[in-house]
Amino acid sequence: MNDDASHDLPPALLPDLAYDTLAVHTGIGRGTGIGVGIPIQQMAAFQFDSLDAAAEEFQTNAGSSYSRIQNPTVKALERRITALEGGGDTVCLSSGQAASFTAMLSACRAGDHIVATSSLFGGSVGLLSGILPLMGITATLVPNTPDAVKAAMHPNTRLVWAETIGNPAADVADLSALAEIAHTSGALFGVDNTWGGVGLLCRPLDFGADIVTHSLTKWAGGHGTVLGGSVTVGERHDLSRNTIYTEGEPSLLDTRGAGALAWRQRWFGTSQLGMVLPPHSAFLVAQGLETLSLRLTRECQTALGLAEFLNNHAGVGRVNYPGLTGSPHHALAQRYLTGGFGAVMSFEVKQPAEFLSRLKVIRMAPNLGDTRTLVVHPWTTTHGRMPEAARRAAGVTPQSIRMSVGVEALNDLQADLAQALS
Ligand SMILES: Cc1ncc(COP(=O)(O)O)c(C=O)c1O
Repeated sequence: MNDDASHDLPPALLPDLAYDTLAVHTGIGRGTGIGVGIPIQQMAAFQFDSLDAAAEEFQTNAGSSYSRIQNPTVKALERRITALEGGGDTVCLSSGQAASFTAMLSACRAGDHIVATSSLFGGSVGLLSGILPLMGITATLVPNTPDAVKAAMHPNTRLVWAETIGNPAADVADLSALAEIAHTSGALFGVDNTWGGVGLLCRPLDFGADIVTHSLTKWAGGHGTVLGGSVTVGERHDLSRNTIYTEGEPSLLDTRGAGALAWRQRWFGTSQLGMVLPPHSAFLVAQGLETLSLRLTRECQTALGLAEFLNNHAGVGRVNYPGLTGSPHHALAQRYLTGGFGAVMSFEVKQPAEFLSRLKVIRMAPNLGDTRTLVVHPWTTTHGRMPEAARRAAGVTPQSIRMSVGVEALNDLQADLAQALS
């Protein structure tokens, strides 16, 4: 078996290859007897042939020693995600939640501050308002506009945090503007790009983001069968105004250079906190990525058709989908969602309970990016534990339904919605 990065696609070739090519070829070794795919190395530990080799591995983490620190299957997936997001390095973790936590913790420590947009996934709001404050890190949640973010910046703000497309309001972040605001203050800009489909719909690093996270549970895994998360860092981030990286003799920047940010994420997220992606899960995600573009391109087309249908339906209130020309987010969507407008929308119905119970094909389940179309009632489920004001700030009302569109036929989904609305 050969899982050595030097046998992967030649790095010089990567910028010239299309998404679909990268998705099926990165992370795979080349040579006689090597499997055509990413092999599962379900091992806890890996051997050394000398004390020197052991000491070097513990210094560099370049290979594999122990799967809490690095595993070859996970590493192959990390190379694939790095290529698809156009990044410098990736760390995979046990869930999207673990990825967000690790990313936030890599930029901040006690006394630091985060500015985040309020239309975030409920779990991210929970981290920012409930968990990080326990560590002395405070956060201000503001409406998803550059002006609101700018007004909330403090001298101790180390991170600006947004989602490519807000959940479930389907509002689009002005990535370039937020990156500029963060960088002007010496802060990092982190983006949860879960709805951006691992770089297929949007590559936030191209628009100035420094850190990109994913719930791999969603479109990457793609079949609702695996939990996972990732943090990818770009190659242009500036840590020179963040004392976590500049303090000490030698400082983290001195010892790790441009790799300091990714190193800290791996150190915190996997090595110390143990939020490890199991090798079998990495294999499932890597396999999911191979068909992500086929699935998500189709899902975006179907989602647009359904959003237009719902928008014209008398029994439906507000429809939030950035692909609709009437959406207040359409202009930003055209700018940043270069691969499609996404597979998720939210819409309001008068009687959510009745509507949900009448669906015959579409299923009610709290996930996104499945091959099947799934709906939830965010007010009582995904956002149910948030205070009412925070739920409304996130664009959730008692009438809201969130729908993640799968790969089924448009006509079948439309007919199911029509009969449930009738
Ligand atoms: C946008 C977004 N980010 C992060 C997460 C957390 O991911 P996970 O469930 O894999 O922990 C979710 C989960 O729904 C999500 O929708």
